[in-house]
Amino acid sequence: MRLVFLGAPGAGKGTQAKRLVDQLKIPQVSTGDMLRKAVSDGTSLGKEAKSYMDKGELVPDSVVIGLIKERLQEADTENGFILDGFPRNVSQAKELDSLLGDLGKPLDVALVLDVPIDDLMKRLTGRRTCKSCGQMYNVYFSPPKVEGKCDVCGGDLYQRADDNEETIKKRLDVYQSSTEPLIDYYKNKGILKIVQGTGDINAIYRKILVQLNPAV
Ligand code: AP5
Repeated sequence: MRLVFLGAPGAGKGTQAKRLVDQLKIPQVSTGDMLRKAVSDGTSLGKEAKSYMDKGELVPDSVVIGLIKERLQEADTENGFILDGFPRNVSQAKELDSLLGDLGKPLDVALVLDVPIDDLMKRLTGRRTCKSCGQMYNVYFSPPKVEGKCDVCGGDLYQRADDNEETIKKRLDVYQSSTEPLIDYYKNKGILKIVQGTGDINAIYRKILVQLNPAV
């Protein structure tokens, strides 16, 4: 299955994508994770990206499209993928269509996790992630058993640099102006599915599976 996950920052795209990876046996392709890795590796691409990410702005299309083109040619995407955080605007969506068209592998589904904007600030300021295994927590909604330590592997938890109130406000503005129009874009293509993303994480996951059937 070739799936795009849409939704505002903090809507739960990463949380739910990780579960689908285990079930569908296809990779999660997150441009945010790829960019953060480039930043922590100190590559020139990472240095360029960091200045945009720290401000909550979109990294230039040319940079992320280059990353995606390379990633979607790797062997593990042969049977499908879950795109998380890409595309982020209509021009990225058109580039993706053209790339997948060339490969003869169009998208099957664009799934929106719909969460009211007012719920997102607490989700994002409360997010903590394990440095070792990537497991995610939330100090308000799903805290670790021991503060600052991962329940799964005992690794240290960190807070993302862009999960501060000022940057979050900018990210939410950018979502509304640049990314939300993709909902209509995919609706017009007849592949849009919408899932309410509030409430229990397991219950949301079950709703996602219902929406993906029979495509799963
Ligand atoms: P990116 O990493 O893509 O961040 P984002 O879109 O802001 O999304 P998040 O990762 O913040 O949220 P999420 O929906 O995955 O939520 P999560 O599951 O973690 O992008 C970061 C930056 O990189 C961008 O600002 C931009 O600069 C750049 N970038 C990336 N892609 C780009 C592109 N294509 N073009 C240009 N620039 C790009 O959950 C959040 C928290 O909520 C967690 O603590 C979780 O535990 C909690 N939670 C989840 N579900 C629930 C629930 N049901 N109830 C309560 N809490 C919940």
